[in-house]
Amino acid sequence: MKRFFQYQLTLLFLLFGLSLSAQETALNLMPVPEQIETGEGQFVITKRFSISLTGDYHERLAHEATRFLRRLDQKTALFFDQHKVSGERTNASLTITVERPGEIRLHEEESYQLRVGTESIEISAQTDIGAIRGLETLLQLTGATNGQSTFPVLTINDSPRFHWRGLMLDVARHFMPMDVLYRNLDAMAAVKLNVLHLHLVDDQGFRFPTKAFPELLELSSDGQYYTREDLDDIIAYAHQRGIRVIPEIDVPGHATAILVAFPELGSKDTTYTLERYSGIFDPTLDPTNDAVYDFLDQLFAEVAEVFPDPYFHIGGDENLGRHWNENKDIQAFMKANNLATNHDLQTYFNIRVQKILNKYGKHTMGWDEIMTPEMPKSAIIHSWRGNWEGLVAKQTLYDAARAGYETVLSNGYYLDLMMPASQHYLVDPAPADMDLTPAERSRILGGEMCMWSELVVPETIDSRLWPRAAAVAERLWSPEEVQDVQDMYRRLAIISLQLEQLGLKHISSRNVILRKLAKSKDIEPLKVLVEVVEPMKGYTRNTNGTLYTTFSPFMLWADAATADATVARVFNEDVERYLSGSLEANQLRTQLDLWSKNHKKVLPIINRSPALLEIESLSENFSRLAVIGLEAIGLIESGGKPSSGWVTQCQQVLEEARESGGRTELQVISGIAMLVDELKGL
Ligand code: ACM
Repeated sequence: MKRFFQYQLTLLFLLFGLSLSAQETALNLMPVPEQIETGEGQFVITKRFSISLTGDYHERLAHEATRFLRRLDQKTALFFDQHKVSGERTNASLTITVERPGEIRLHEEESYQLRVGTESIEISAQTDIGAIRGLETLLQLTGATNGQSTFPVLTINDSPRFHWRGLMLDVARHFMPMDVLYRNLDAMAAVKLNVLHLHLVDDQGFRFPTKAFPELLELSSDGQYYTREDLDDIIAYAHQRGIRVIPEIDVPGHATAILVAFPELGSKDTTYTLERYSGIFDPTLDPTNDAVYDFLDQLFAEVAEVFPDPYFHIGGDENLGRHWNENKDIQAFMKANNLATNHDLQTYFNIRVQKILNKYGKHTMGWDEIMTPEMPKSAIIHSWRGNWEGLVAKQTLYDAARAGYETVLSNGYYLDLMMPASQHYLVDPAPADMDLTPAERSRILGGEMCMWSELVVPETIDSRLWPRAAAVAERLWSPEEVQDVQDMYRRLAIISLQLEQLGLKHISSRNVILRKLAKSKDIEPLKVLVEVVEPMKGYTRNTNGTLYTTFSPFMLWADAATADATVARVFNEDVERYLSGSLEANQLRTQLDLWSKNHKKVLPIINRSPALLEIESLSENFSRLAVIGLEAIGLIESGGKPSSGWVTQCQQVLEEARESGGRTELQVISGIAMLVDELKGL
């Protein structure tokens, strides 16, 4: 009985979800707002378009409203009369009313109402941060009707589902210069993300501008670190967009960069060298050494002074404790203090670290390894461990919520794994059917995407983040029932172009890389091929972390490929439509014909570019796949029967096409296999 009831509820939910999705997503918004009431007609945007601000707002609203005006003028090319927004003005096209200045803090009010009428537009919000979210929605609504730029008449009531909608950038493995941070903050604001988490320290580099320990910058940064002014600028830039900035200093593991400068703080009596490879390494701070806490006290005082947010991330992940096991003094300390395991020793360390942070008015946040019975409940548990390949394993998230901790989900949101957007999109931190009480549910603050940068450089980071990050941003903002993957992809393609207008390089970097590899502007055949491959998934591209180092080239074939080979996805869907009778054979034939001839065009490019030798068999396999695709369609159309030799040969081509090439994998294999399978039983 209960089961039946649940089923009915699910059905209702799905039906409701579908109708909501169809109505709301037709507007091409991302993230989809909580509630939309569409109306009749349009607001026509003219050169007299103007904005008025009323109520008690923070001055950031005037800056953001002016930025909105500039962006809208760029989009519409109307040469607006009003250039700058400051305070009230009569008969403005858009009136923004807020009740109070927003604060850049967790749980701040971000809801807004947007009403577009034929004569005027209103955004009202409790805080200017809500109004800023509303401005991004309005900008996405810019359209055209009868040769005029317009906004559709509607009313939107919107508020976020989760308060923590974050992005972690690993600026330690590969340093990310200021322009990368600025443009990514613009993109984050465009899709209503509100936390930037900077992973500032790891085995491969130290990037925080400490004054107390200049040795860290001299020895462990390769000259690449932020200045205080840089960080002040980034924080101000983020705050103007209603985005918090959280620092992470990862301890006690991931400590090579610290120990290169201060080996006496390590758990092993040795000299340390800055790590160039990827992986989990042994250098670890010595938790039994009081000098470690003196060092962290001084360092954390500086970090706390620069970053105003009350949350401070101490990492805490992946400490295998090998150097602890090897150290007799540490073992004796553990015995004397009744610390049975390395985990207990790390807890001892965390609690001392937490006391230091409390002194500076900070709450501890750490990866889920920090969750032990003694950890005070004021800490935020950052859930990351689980199964990366399949459905998310949210056990540590739920355990944390049940144990009384606030918690943030990153498992399932590791964009560096190069999984398709659809996979991340369907990961929900708190689905309605989860087994948590309302109080436990309320401790799930939201989610944070991770961009670990072992394989990512400033030239490619945008294409590793965007547009997929916009899909996750929607999961964290929009109602749970917004789950239509096809529609997500449709809107993502539109949002992707809007992100490019903000200066993001996720689209342009591909051609830059291909032109570099081809040593020519003639890259068309390479584009045809790169559009149907994806980089090797998970951490397989970098076998055991030893193929690439920090200073390896990262403008290679795989770096021109992206996690969503849209052309391949659409082709595979077209094959399904063809086989079910809803697509003409000729549509597939045209594409397959082009593909079958592509290798001949790629070969001369490879011949003058040794860096492309790695894709020779990939390119050949792609054209061979297209040939068997054409043959299969010919047989299906003529009602012919394939010879058994043909089927065997096809199977061999399909098998060989599964081999990676240039650290990428062909994504059209399933479509071709479906065509061959159609003929198999004949
Ligand atoms: C992590 O991925 N080591 C937090």
